[in-house]
Amino acid sequence: MKRVAVLGATGSIGRQALEVIDGNPRLELVAASSGSQPINGLAPLTQVGGDAIELLEQAEPDVVLNAIVGFAGVTATLWALERGVELALANKESLVAAGELALAARERGGGRLLPVDSEHSAVFQCLEGRDAATVHSVVLTASGGPFRGRNRAELQDVTPDDALAHPTWRMGPKITVDSATLANKGLEVIEAHFLFGLPYDRVEVVIQPTSVVHSLVRFRDGAALAHLGYPDMRVPISYALTFPERAATDVAPLDLSAGLRLDFEPVDSEAFPLLGLARRAGEAGGTYPCVFNAANEIAVAAFLEGRLPFLGIAEVVEDTLDAADGSAARDLDELIAADEEARRLAQRGMAVA
Ligand SMILES: NC(=O)c1ccc[n+]([C@@H]2O[C@H](COP(=O)([O-])OP(=O)(O)OC[C@H]3O[C@@H](n4cnc5c(N)ncnc54)[C@H](OP(=O)(O)O)[C@@H]3O)[C@@H](O)[C@H]2O)c1
Repeated sequence: MKRVAVLGATGSIGRQALEVIDGNPRLELVAASSGSQPINGLAPLTQVGGDAIELLEQAEPDVVLNAIVGFAGVTATLWALERGVELALANKESLVAAGELALAARERGGGRLLPVDSEHSAVFQCLEGRDAATVHSVVLTASGGPFRGRNRAELQDVTPDDALAHPTWRMGPKITVDSATLANKGLEVIEAHFLFGLPYDRVEVVIQPTSVVHSLVRFRDGAALAHLGYPDMRVPISYALTFPERAATDVAPLDLSAGLRLDFEPVDSEAFPLLGLARRAGEAGGTYPCVFNAANEIAVAAFLEGRLPFLGIAEVVEDTLDAADGSAARDLDELIAADEEARRLAQRGMAVA
């Protein structure tokens, strides 16, 4: 029996996690949190708003599923890693922003860090048990989002409603906009760097419009292993919560007689500059990934509120990266300071523009 705490239980991942836990008698929900929605009675221990640490200290779970959106998830990620409590991580922003601190905490804590992001779960599974020296590179797939195939000029006037109409995944609003700009894939490149210990030039991205190929690993002997399945987050959630058992789910097996399309396309980096900006931030290191994430969060919120055009998101992120100091954070307080400063710079950039 695994005792699970689900943080962000009211969100897209959180709700699917509750479904997975409900369907598996070996998983027990012991605690649940939300940002502001009421969750009374959802779990023996619940918390609405604020830092989830108190809830986690009280619940003493075997595994924390961090499905909070944004930098707000960082303290829970570091809490679990520091204590060696198994962490099923959907909240990629925390690993991107706190990368070095998170890895150091994992080293001290000695617990497992299991990715929930479907791409990273796929890579994790393709890599399982294999010698790192045999790996050539990982290839993260992207659906391309609702604007795949459009050029920059055609992105000028797209609205939040257009951006929220994702072709293959049903997700929360922030990650759906990130998928439309490809900032999500940028965050995932940085996430893969920290999760798998690979340099940035060995983390590739390719468009795979049907989201059936969840990612690939290329090996040095010329072989590539891919992970396939329908786009359904219950699969990577269940994998992370039941590792190493791979419990059954009621997700249908792939129907290979139904004309499955597995096409691949290169990314148009001129139309979607946020992927390149994320790589730049990742390669610069220090708190630049944290700055990338903070500026993106501010810009996406402004876009969703109709205060910033779609193409303005990348401009705000680029200007903030240019203006930020980016020096490494030695602890959580310094990281939070870097995050706050980046948010201030991004807000100021939007006010001036
Ligand atoms: N959705 C997907 O398919 C998917 C796939 C891969 C990775 N992810 C990642 O998983 C995370 C969650 O995504 P999502 O799509 O599930 O988002 P979502 O639907 O917007 O849900 C976000 C959850 O976080 C809570 N929350 C928001 N702000 C908070 C705060 N300041 N403190 C504590 N809790 C807060 C929300 O509570 P309220 O409801 O009360 O606001 C909600 O429970 C993101 O990091 C995303 O990148 C999502």
